[in-house]
Amino acid sequence: MPDEKSKPGTGQGAAKRQSGVGNWRMDTLLTHAGLSPHEFHGFVNPPLVRASTVLFPDVDAMLERKGQRYSYGLTNTPTIEALVEALDLLDGAVGTVLVPSGLAAVTTAILTAVRPGGTLLVPDNVYAPTRRFCDESLPAFGVETIYYDPLIGAGIADRLGGASALFLEAPGSHSFEMPDLPALVAAALSAGVMTMLDNTWATPLIYKPLEHGVDLAITAGTKYQAGHSDLLIGSVSANAAAWPALRQLHKNLGTQAGTEEIWLTLRGLRTMGIRLERHERSALEVARWLQNRPEVARVLHPALPDDPGHAIWKRDFGRSTGLFGFVLHGEERQAKSFLNALRLFGLGFSWGGFESLAVLGEMAECRTVRPWTEGPVIRLHGGLEDGQDLIADLDAGFDAMAAG
Ligand SMILES: Cc1ncc(COP(=O)(O)O)c(C=O)c1O
Repeated sequence: MPDEKSKPGTGQGAAKRQSGVGNWRMDTLLTHAGLSPHEFHGFVNPPLVRASTVLFPDVDAMLERKGQRYSYGLTNTPTIEALVEALDLLDGAVGTVLVPSGLAAVTTAILTAVRPGGTLLVPDNVYAPTRRFCDESLPAFGVETIYYDPLIGAGIADRLGGASALFLEAPGSHSFEMPDLPALVAAALSAGVMTMLDNTWATPLIYKPLEHGVDLAITAGTKYQAGHSDLLIGSVSANAAAWPALRQLHKNLGTQAGTEEIWLTLRGLRTMGIRLERHERSALEVARWLQNRPEVARVLHPALPDDPGHAIWKRDFGRSTGLFGFVLHGEERQAKSFLNALRLFGLGFSWGGFESLAVLGEMAECRTVRPWTEGPVIRLHGGLEDGQDLIADLDAGFDAMAAG
């Protein structure tokens, strides 16, 4: 087998290739992590290596795969290695796998942790396709999903008997409640239950799940890491306990991300820090404006001081990104008039790209433990446009709503 240090998901390898990397702060990591120019004739960026076959010099080298850094395009190339090293460093991971979408990252993490006969605990406000996988695909693996109130906190201890894994997401999709992550993780740790967090909203710039006792950090790199609405990619990063199982499952599934997607994601990382600052600022400007609109019943953004999750957000995250929601006074029909009138906010799924987006939250489908009783929810993604232009667009939307 090739040298362990040269394989994807061995972040210590990156630390050795770049001197001083262990002490770098986040902005320096974002700028340099995964780069090793002198391995590539001094070119700053790693090459985009498209590969299936890798040739060996002789049969012994092929059989033993000794002395050769790469053996097959599915498992490792210089391009895969560069992004894996960068993500290992950003999350403080022992190992990271890349997959073709954020949803594949979710399902890979879940399949790493679940066991036949063991339950999977999932928050009621989870990203809807995660719920669909749990409901429609997990039963075939002998796994039952139990949904819990995302605000249950330490009370999760009563549900952990018979569980093989605890799924976490913060804040929740569409409703943006902040779960008490330390309480949930502490309960799982003392019950010996594996934990995983969909950290797509916060990214490792705001919260590093593995440093807080979570076993698997899930990221839809489609959003902020890639940042340009032009590709799909996901990653799962693991601590030492979870890495062997994650690595083996990834190898067995054969679900590597595409080369071009990996390369573009690495490029996206270089500007992610400054993009996130701007997304945060735009979203907060818009959210504060919405708070004063008579048409708005409640803004769902944990960074706002009167949000019910604010204290937890401040303690655990302290910074926010571009995605939040608001509850409209009125009916779905009015929400549709509002959305149809928007020009800068595109109507489209996904988020994390440079542009602003809006969707109508499908609340009934994603609530079974505590049904949603408030009005229609509109989810917004604040892009990199000027905040005042975004506000003018929403203002026009409210005018159209009033006109019927
Ligand atoms: C919280 C969260 N997790 C995972 C995903 C899935 O990402 P992808 O679209 O890359 O499958 C999304 C996508 O919207 C998401 O919002």
